[in-house]
Amino acid sequence: MRCFIIAAMTADGYIAKDEAHSPFNWTSKEDKHRFVELTKKAGAVIMGSKTYATIGKPLKERVNIVYSRSKSFDGVEVTQKGPRELLDELEARGFKEAAVCGGSHIYSLFMKAGAVAKLYLTVEPLVFGKGVRLFDEEMNYALKLKSAGQAENGALLLEYDVDYPVK
Ligand SMILES: NC(=O)c1ccc[n+]([C@@H]2O[C@H](COP(=O)([O-])OP(=O)(O)OC[C@H]3O[C@@H](n4cnc5c(N)ncnc54)[C@H](OP(=O)(O)O)[C@@H]3O)[C@@H](O)[C@H]2O)c1
Repeated sequence: MRCFIIAAMTADGYIAKDEAHSPFNWTSKEDKHRFVELTKKAGAVIMGSKTYATIGKPLKERVNIVYSRSKSFDGVEVTQKGPRELLDELEARGFKEAAVCGGSHIYSLFMKAGAVAKLYLTVEPLVFGKGVRLFDEEMNYALKLKSAGQAENGALLLEYDVDYPVK
């Protein structure tokens, strides 16, 4: 089973100002709506412990899987499994897709494993100048734009398919 990445970023490619900065206050209502719709449809959300700390509680009506090497949290499943192993297990449990919800470390982990079929990116009309980037490792994938929409505030709601690694 493959999964999708869902993220909001600034026009200069940042998903947060720092590890503790939540996207909640700077993303458009259309982005929030798309996040809820797509993650509920998937039923399983996967994130890193730093992202989970910015949310502070499990996302309702979804199985929450949090990557951590050391912590435990109520109401979520903590994992250290590789992306392929985790997705195979979710498939065996009956899930058809899973949403990878960040942050940078976990987006990169799944991209590098070749496990990501789609990217849902919202580009908000903002620049942060520095901060946490969408990805934090070198990689080389081509994307195919499948759809593009515009939110009331000018944010772009993009949907990409991930193509084969570019040599
Ligand atoms: N704009 C958006 O759409 C969006 C979405 C999501 C997140 N964010 C932002 O991104 C920032 C956090 O990103 P981040 O990259 O710093 O952190 P992160 O990916 O959320 O979490 C990193 C943590 O995940 C755990 N981890 C990573 N690799 C692991 C592995 N192979 N096995 C087990 N555990 C592993 C470790 O947790 P332990 O330290 O507990 O071991 C690590 O400290 C926050 O500011 C958040 O708001 C933005």
